[in-house]
Amino acid sequence: MIVDVKGARMVSDVFIEMFDRLPRQGPGKNECTKKAFEILSELPERPHILDIGCGSGMQTLLLAQLSGGKVDALDLYRIFLDDLNERAMKKGISDNIRTCVGSMTDLPYEKDSFDLIWAEGSIYIMGFKEGVSYWKQFLKNKGYICVSEINWLKDNPSEKAISYWNNYPEVSMKTVEENKETISEIGFDCIDIFILPESAWWDYYHPLELRLEEMKKKYSENAEFNEFSKEIYEEMEIYKECSDDYGYVFYIMKKKE
Ligand SMILES: C[S@@+](CC[C@H](N)C(=O)[O-])C[C@H]1O[C@@H](n2cnc3c(N)ncnc32)[C@H](O)[C@@H]1O
Repeated sequence: MIVDVKGARMVSDVFIEMFDRLPRQGPGKNECTKKAFEILSELPERPHILDIGCGSGMQTLLLAQLSGGKVDALDLYRIFLDDLNERAMKKGISDNIRTCVGSMTDLPYEKDSFDLIWAEGSIYIMGFKEGVSYWKQFLKNKGYICVSEINWLKDNPSEKAISYWNNYPEVSMKTVEENKETISEIGFDCIDIFILPESAWWDYYHPLELRLEEMKKKYSENAEFNEFSKEIYEEMEIYKECSDDYGYVFYIMKKKE
């Protein structure tokens, strides 16, 4: 079991084996990280970046390489950060990345520290409005926040998608229009928005599916494994059927003066 910080969920051995050393922990794609980063036209030469809920850091590594700056990468679970540190060493960029076990709800950084705050697939844990509002104070004047967030893509999504996602713990899915209003209300300009392609979901689901297949041999009698894998397969089935109804959306926003 791992308990890293106050309030962190207990992490079981089964959970660790399921997610450890996977390429990423949520839907995403390097092309999309790069596309969002290239929209940021007014970053300083070597920006100071904070990557929140970084997981094993697929996007952290790319941000460090693209920006040539320093990236602080924070996650609640040490197992993911160990993986990120190893990957950074292998790429020869460990001097550009500093990892920290901590919570996005109680950031251990000084105010006005960062030129850019990044969060791929993690802001749903706090909620879009709550996350951006709280993180804003850690951003320098005219700094950027880039997040990817799960959203309804239609005004009338299917009943199946609604009943699944309305019962999913933590996720409170909004429409793109609702989030655009929120961005403006809390003192940001919305610079750009784009929807991640469906392949970004399968880049996450396929390795996870393979992992579940491998683990099935060893854990077929394990109640926790069976419960976790049932949830993951159900989520994948819903996505296969309802991918027009919802998706991940990248938001690129800039703090107003
Ligand atoms: C869906 S994953 C996304 C990971 C990574 N950004 C990616 O796209 O692959 C969400 C991440 O948020 C982390 N997380 C969960 N609760 C957190 C919290 N309170 N503070 C910081 N990180 C948290 C999880 O450990 C996980 O790595």
